[in-house]
Amino acid sequence: MTRRKIVAGNWKMNGSVESVVELVKGLNACDTLDVVVAPSFVYLPLVAQQLVDSSIKLAAQNASEYNSGPYTGEVSLSMLQDFSVSHVILGHSERRALFAETDTQVAKKVAATLAAGLTPILCVGETLEQREVGTTLAVCNAQVDAVLNEIGVELFEQVVVAYEPVWAIGTGKSATSEQAQEVHKGIRDNIATQSAEIAEKIAILYGGSVKASNSAELFAQPDIDGALVGGASLDAKEFNSIIESAK
Ligand code: G3P
Repeated sequence: MTRRKIVAGNWKMNGSVESVVELVKGLNACDTLDVVVAPSFVYLPLVAQQLVDSSIKLAAQNASEYNSGPYTGEVSLSMLQDFSVSHVILGHSERRALFAETDTQVAKKVAATLAAGLTPILCVGETLEQREVGTTLAVCNAQVDAVLNEIGVELFEQVVVAYEPVWAIGTGKSATSEQAQEVHKGIRDNIATQSAEIAEKIAILYGGSVKASNSAELFAQPDIDGALVGGASLDAKEFNSIIESAK
């Protein structure tokens, strides 16, 4: 089946009012695939305003699993909805490694995001050590299973998965298209043990040093449905080329 591709830019903790405005001005929307950008929380209102007449979608880089209350420093899903956010990146390896987010927390955030009617982009991926000892698929599928167990396979249909090998993030060293395809297929096969139909429908993005020079080859793989781009999404020209290669 043909799945609609998604090219998402995760801007992480980068940018300023000036640079964000310039970056958004330079982005090309596309009718045949979903283009998504994820600025830092503080720039969401600004970018939402800039994208009012655009088909480019807005993502947050995290969200609280709680609705409201005494959670200093957290941002709720309803707050994100106030600024037209449609997607939420969850379980990014930087949040798992640096901010101690557990599989259980990530699963709860995915559930809350779906309950709010937004689309979670669930990040999974192995470290270099885990790859070297041959546990790549076990690690990725355990991260997926934590969410499947929390929400059930029917709801999982609305989840976008992003396979991001930790060793490829920000290193300039992307997984080869064969390495990525193998893991994407392994993730899809694991979901298929619960529902082959839903596994076929799910978009699985690749993330980790994606750039204009390697995106076309990655997108040519049968189980790679787009990309979650970090560094290269901060350059409009480069990001537009990645979008172009996904058409
Ligand atoms: O979420 C995107 C990501 O972690 C990949 O970052 O800079 O390697 O493209 P980068």
